Amino acid sequence: MTLQRTLSILKPDATRRNLTGKINAVIETAGLRIVAQKRIWLSLAQAQQFYAVHESRAFFNDLCQSMIAGPIVVQVLEGTDAVSKYRETMGATNPENATAGTIRKEFAESIEANSVHGSDSEENAAIEIAFFFSHIEIVG
Ligand code: CMP
Repeated sequence: MTLQRTLSILKPDATRRNLTGKINAVIETAGLRIVAQKRIWLSLAQAQQFYAVHESRAFFNDLCQSMIAGPIVVQVLEGTDAVSKYRETMGATNPENATAGTIRKEFAESIEANSVHGSDSEENAAIEIAFFFSHIEIVG
């Protein structure tokens, strides 16, 4: 059990449907604390840079387009085993495979418009948090 931080993104399909409060209620109920937060609108270049690890995947262009379709909320979550806890709270990438009660099962529209993103490892969390936040913006 380790105190960790992870990056969370509430995607354009979530902001468009006014779901940020409902999703964050699930996150906070799971015991995760929001220690940094901002609402931004990514450029195409920024989306491509953030998701560069998926560059060679067939879904890369559609993914980047869906991430720039509207504003997003980026936030840092803190808690015990925050990386795995948030991934459990989000549910499977494809909402069709997600467990009942998870964010994606309750709110996601499709595999692309799947409402939320979360870092997949502690190492990537550090990289993804640094992509959006400076040290003084994170208030634990
Ligand atoms: P996310 O957690 O943001 O990480 C990469 C995103 O790519 C993923 O959520 C999905 O929204 C999107 N995506 C679209 N198609 C696929 C796919 N076939 N496999 C994995 N991710 C996909």
